Amino acid sequence: MSTGKSSVPQHVAIIMDGNGRWARRHGWPRLKGHQEGAQSLQAILRACRTAGVKYLTVYAFSVENWIRPKAEINGLMALLRKFLRDQEHELHEHQVRLRMIGRMEDLPAAVQKELSRVIAATAQHTGGQLILALSYGSRAEIAAAARRIAAAVQAGRLRPEEITEQTVAANLYAPDVPDPDLLIRTSGEMRVSNFLLWQISYAELYVTDVLWPDFREAEFNRALASYAQRQRRFGGVK
Ligand code: FPP
Repeated sequence: MSTGKSSVPQHVAIIMDGNGRWARRHGWPRLKGHQEGAQSLQAILRACRTAGVKYLTVYAFSVENWIRPKAEINGLMALLRKFLRDQEHELHEHQVRLRMIGRMEDLPAAVQKELSRVIAATAQHTGGQLILALSYGSRAEIAAAARRIAAAVQAGRLRPEEITEQTVAANLYAPDVPDPDLLIRTSGEMRVSNFLLWQISYAELYVTDVLWPDFREAEFNRALASYAQRQRRFGGVK
């Protein structure tokens, strides 16, 4: 098993939290916080390129976020479409593949259409991957994997005793993506909020009080520097 020799994480996952608090502190509407948060995402995507991080997974909308006020949900969905339009050129230029994890079917039709288009258009890119978690919940993901495995057993393609950790991992939303090495959470909350629970088993955690709209390249590099100091043991000894 790898002893985590590389000082640059291959895969960084981020819980982008604090847009609302950032807006409130400035006396602006919450949506302004999300807009500024989208700018942070663009900046961090560029910073990943510079640093050599190959996979970036961001928690953009959780299954639980649907209970937010309709106006905020609509604003976030419009922002997502704008983000896709604004980013497409850059994704192609740097050969970045866009993917999504989550319940695609929950998203408004116009978002599904735009998202599917950009996902298909970038599917062959090999320069890195941007993975948007949208209507995502880790328990929902694991339950969906369990349903697929049960169906395979029922169809006689798999025996219960053949089910291993690899079987579960292979039935998650993006099975070919390596597990995150580093999980960043902004705005200080010490929780993982139903994000990639299976995949972060051995991830290093980095929590900062900086609010997501203020989290730009310098803050990201601070997180990478902290990661580079860690001794990853994966349950073994040094
Ligand atoms: C958490 O802040 C953030 C979200 C629920 C949405 C994340 C969305 C973005 C960063 C916008 C850009 C993303 C894309 C893909 C266009 P919060 O609203 O929970 O903040 P609070 O906890 O301070 O209220």
